[in-house]
Amino acid sequence: MNKTLTRLFEQHQLNRQELTDLIIAALENPQPLFRLARETTARHYGDSVFIRGLIEFSNYCSRNCLYCGIQRANRSLDRYRLTEDEILDCCHQGAELGYNSYVLQSGEDGYYTDEILVRIIRRIKQQFPKAAIALSIGERDFSSYQQLYRAGASRFLLRHETANQHLYHRFHPQMSFTERQQCLLNLRKAGFNIGAGFLVGLPGQSLADLVDDLLFLKQLQPEMVGIGPFIAHPETPLGGYKNGSLEITLIMLAIARLLLPLSLIPATTAVTTLKSAGRSQALLAGANVVMPNLTPTAAKVKYELYKNKAGIADDSQQALNKIKDVILQAGLIPDLGRGDPVKKIINRESAKC
Ligand code: 5AD
Repeated sequence: MNKTLTRLFEQHQLNRQELTDLIIAALENPQPLFRLARETTARHYGDSVFIRGLIEFSNYCSRNCLYCGIQRANRSLDRYRLTEDEILDCCHQGAELGYNSYVLQSGEDGYYTDEILVRIIRRIKQQFPKAAIALSIGERDFSSYQQLYRAGASRFLLRHETANQHLYHRFHPQMSFTERQQCLLNLRKAGFNIGAGFLVGLPGQSLADLVDDLLFLKQLQPEMVGIGPFIAHPETPLGGYKNGSLEITLIMLAIARLLLPLSLIPATTAVTTLKSAGRSQALLAGANVVMPNLTPTAAKVKYELYKNKAGIADDSQQALNKIKDVILQAGLIPDLGRGDPVKKIINRESAKC
């Protein structure tokens, strides 16, 4: 694996077969991969780990993604929407704690028209002009994305979920693989920094599928990459399946870092839910973002993508303190700045040739 890994480290690309061999070798001994992934992160972002405040503002969803606990068909879930003022309060609390970066996440909730979302984004930007706003609210049409961007949101997270179109259609009834990918392109065209990413350990997912996910990311070149293990939720059709593997998730994350050295990659809550040390392991395998929760406790317990979500009992202050401790324990530095992506510097001389 050494030669292949060195080439990935130096050239940031590998073909399908090399990626497959690398993953198999890393399953035996992942440490060299993790070390180089961490070194790559350090080269571009130093020791900073960017902290974003997550605001889960509605758990209504019109979709029925088979793995997801907030899917429309889950009748046992108590639904909520935060009011506009409550969302603003979350940002105020965040600002007092030092945050400069917010992620507004919800199910695909038709209640939020463009007009409502634009008003929320404008209000946040009016009160916190320097803060970065990321949205994670699913598929919308191009004109909607344009309006949200013009209102002041600059980042958008929309995982591609899986690059295998058969798996995609199996797990996302009435959704389209090509439309999902078109949404990512539309988001970029509208001006957003985009976040794509996938689930690890979906039932029926093969090693070849994971390699395709990595190649998909390499081709798309998103500014942000979210990779997390599938966690079986008992009130979904996939409730009886095994959770995804933490080890494989970490290997995917490390390879994503080496393929896309400039990307921002979160240590996801799902990783921490599988194992409490998961977050620091992810930070030492190439992740450089964390998203502690700013959602009021009464609401956040209902934002149940999966059960036993890590940190569910903590208030915003505790969540932040705990995450800062994990970052420091890993020998890294908590950073409450906007955490913008480093962009490639185009070499003007070579561009002329
Ligand atoms: N396990 C792990 N991740 C999940 N997500 C949704 N449901 C689950 C689950 N049961 C992820 C999806 C989505 C993101 C917001 O949460 O990948 O894009």
